[in-house]
Amino acid sequence: MKGLKRGGVVCAALFVPVFIGSLAAQENANIRKGDPVKGKQVYQVTACWRCHDIETGVSKRPPAPSLKDTYNRPPHLLVDGKKHMKHTDEMFRTIITEGTKAMNPRGAVLTDEELDDLIAYLHTL
Ligand code: HEC
Repeated sequence: MKGLKRGGVVCAALFVPVFIGSLAAQENANIRKGDPVKGKQVYQVTACWRCHDIETGVSKRPPAPSLKDTYNRPPHLLVDGKKHMKHTDEMFRTIITEGTKAMNPRGAVLTDEELDDLIAYLHTL
């Protein structure tokens, strides 16, 4: 019994810092991530849907790729030959705000907050 109790105390001592650490990580993630529900509205209002499929996984208006499960998209080439290995938030921020050879920039019509929300929404597709 005694041994068990001590084990419990040791366990608690080990897990408390881990727990606090994960809370802190969650808080950081929340600050960066934005709100996917608002992001969906941004997606609709800024008419991303006109070129990008989000349901079938097949492009509805080539060369605009489908954005369904886009964070797991296998390596592929953009129109200018640039290779995407693995999609990241940073990469998408740049594409959306600055555009690419084949997609016009949207930076001028989006606030930082809307961009965060949009990125959070893209994670849910
Ligand atoms: C007029 C058509 C059009 C609209 C509207 C449009 N895009 Fe695009 N988008 C494209 C094309 C075309 C590409 C491919 C770019 C390339 O290959 O250079 C692309 C690429 C992308 C990519 C990279 C995807 C990948 O798999 O590499 C993302 C992310 C993206 N668009 C997000 C958006 C978002 C978010 C919006 C709305 C704010 C939007 N796009 C609006 C045409 C469009």
